[in-house]
Amino acid sequence: MDGTSLTPQEIKLQQLKELLPEAFSEGKIDWEKLQLTLGRDINLSNERYLLNWAGKSDAFRALQTPATQTLIPLKEESINFEETENIFIEGENLEVLKVLQRSYFNKVKMIYIDPPYNTGNDSFIYPDKFSETKDDYQKRVGDKDEDGYMTKEGLYHKNSKENGQYHSNWLNMMYPRLFLAKNLLKDDGVIFVSIDDNEVHNLRMLMNEIFGEENLMGQLLWKRRQNADSRNQSNVSTDHEYILVYSKSSLASFVGKEIDKSKYKNPDKDERGPWASIDLSGLATKDQRPNLHYDIVDPETNISYPPNPRRGWSKSKSNVEEMIADGRILFPKLPSGRPREKKFVKDLQKDRTGFSTWLNSKIVGYTTNGTRQVSALMEDKIFDFPKPVALISLFIEQITKTKEEDIVLDFFAGSGTTGQALLDTNAADDGNRKYICVQLQERTSEKSEAFKQGYKTIADLAKERIRRASSKIQNENPDYKGDLGFKVLKLSDSNFKQWRQLDVKDEKAIEKQLDMFVDPVSENAVIENIVYELLLKSGKDLNSKITHKDSLYIINDNELVMMLEQATEETVKTAIKLKPIKVIALDKLFKGNDQLKTNTALQMKDAGIEFKTI
Ligand SMILES: C[S@@+](CC[C@H](N)C(=O)[O-])C[C@H]1O[C@@H](n2cnc3c(N)ncnc32)[C@H](O)[C@@H]1O
Repeated sequence: MDGTSLTPQEIKLQQLKELLPEAFSEGKIDWEKLQLTLGRDINLSNERYLLNWAGKSDAFRALQTPATQTLIPLKEESINFEETENIFIEGENLEVLKVLQRSYFNKVKMIYIDPPYNTGNDSFIYPDKFSETKDDYQKRVGDKDEDGYMTKEGLYHKNSKENGQYHSNWLNMMYPRLFLAKNLLKDDGVIFVSIDDNEVHNLRMLMNEIFGEENLMGQLLWKRRQNADSRNQSNVSTDHEYILVYSKSSLASFVGKEIDKSKYKNPDKDERGPWASIDLSGLATKDQRPNLHYDIVDPETNISYPPNPRRGWSKSKSNVEEMIADGRILFPKLPSGRPREKKFVKDLQKDRTGFSTWLNSKIVGYTTNGTRQVSALMEDKIFDFPKPVALISLFIEQITKTKEEDIVLDFFAGSGTTGQALLDTNAADDGNRKYICVQLQERTSEKSEAFKQGYKTIADLAKERIRRASSKIQNENPDYKGDLGFKVLKLSDSNFKQWRQLDVKDEKAIEKQLDMFVDPVSENAVIENIVYELLLKSGKDLNSKITHKDSLYIINDNELVMMLEQATEETVKTAIKLKPIKVIALDKLFKGNDQLKTNTALQMKDAGIEFKTI
């Protein structure tokens, strides 16, 4: 609302909207629907069941444009950089998801995200015009302040409910990200998306489109507030939100809930072990299942027990007779009672039962628990509405395996709850899971406690929260040997000019293009950053083993060798001796010595090594 009074036209529109809400879409008149509403016999263009919104095709294009950036390591921000396999990435998640596509395709076991809910009050990035040139893009958005941080005035806009494309903007933001995220999931992988009533209906349709309706595993209900909210005019307090859970394929499943065996006892010292008394009645009337309606006769007393006429028994007559002979039917003390099954714990088919979509608040907690957990670690309330750690730990326990090196990804990491939840879960069951958290360098507001404490961005505070969560685990378990470190990487411009975005309208573009052939490596490129960029471009993951020896960078022993410092007959020989699958060399290192380059190519070919120069 801008507070100005409505024009006569707006008043009429308002009246029309009250009268015919079905003829409006995102606050604007849908002319076709208006005609239909008024009884005109028209065919709706595009008449079929689908989720459509303004900008869907652009959103699809945005996800197809290749990444122009890369990730560079920030060792000084990391803990135990060389050994750890946990990863924290600072940067815009659409671009990060693109950068990760090759290396993490089909590798992630679980994704949890808690994106902006589109409350009308939150800000997020839209539209994603990644197809425009970098210069245009920066001019349009003026998106970075003098320290290079994203500002809300730039790319990061508030999407208010008055906005004519309120739902479309949100869908445009979510669509490409979810699409790319799906590629990263393993075939038995699962994605959890937190959401509330503002967009749950659209998200469900969107996820159906991307993951397939048949892969909906559940729409979980989480009670986020303990006490009712009295601020609503309607006097309805929405106390819950949802977590939509989709699998990549039918191969995925939850671990489920352990069956409570405490009710199995052995008061009669039955040699078959503990047992429980289980109801034998069924669910069908005599008309529906006549064979389940019969009297059960106690052979010792000859008393007959008729079934409940509305339910019958759950087992057939012959089945029950066998059970009587086997001492597995309990007869009641009074003739008015009903026989029951003596069920032995050893005969249980499974140890587990289904995971309820109704989350147990005693286990997962409320938003206030999340807030308290972050405040306890950070000594102040520095982040609004973090999720409780136990909520995410529960999902991790349900989907990942303790001993497998499952990767859990959160690309809307916020204060880093997923990072902490994963470390806590590993510490509790000695697991080997790893996380990848992605968080925008979103500036904290100058008035916020976070800013006052020195955290300039949300990524900064998330990193510190995870550092403190790690220290807490180590202090509480001094002998714990699990991975409590993390590698920090930052989204950055490519180290290679040809992979950066070029302004094709720029008249100097051709000149620039020629310059690329002379030396494609950017002026300020640091070798270590080039190593990481080439790792990603070659589809190797960020935890690949990198050995720097004899001026060569050797990846995963012999998978890949990078020649980034010198190319002489000696280095070529050393590289070939390593018998790698592939060698990548910087073209400029051959210093125009075409003979050396041709010889190198021939020798590599003879040795069966794939050879590429850049
Ligand atoms: C609702 S919060 C997540 C809170 C988190 N679950 C927690 O417990 O702390 C969403 C976060 O996503 C971040 N975000 C929004 N758009 C993003 C983008 N395009 N790339 C990366 N992060 C983004 C925001 O900065 C915000 O911190």
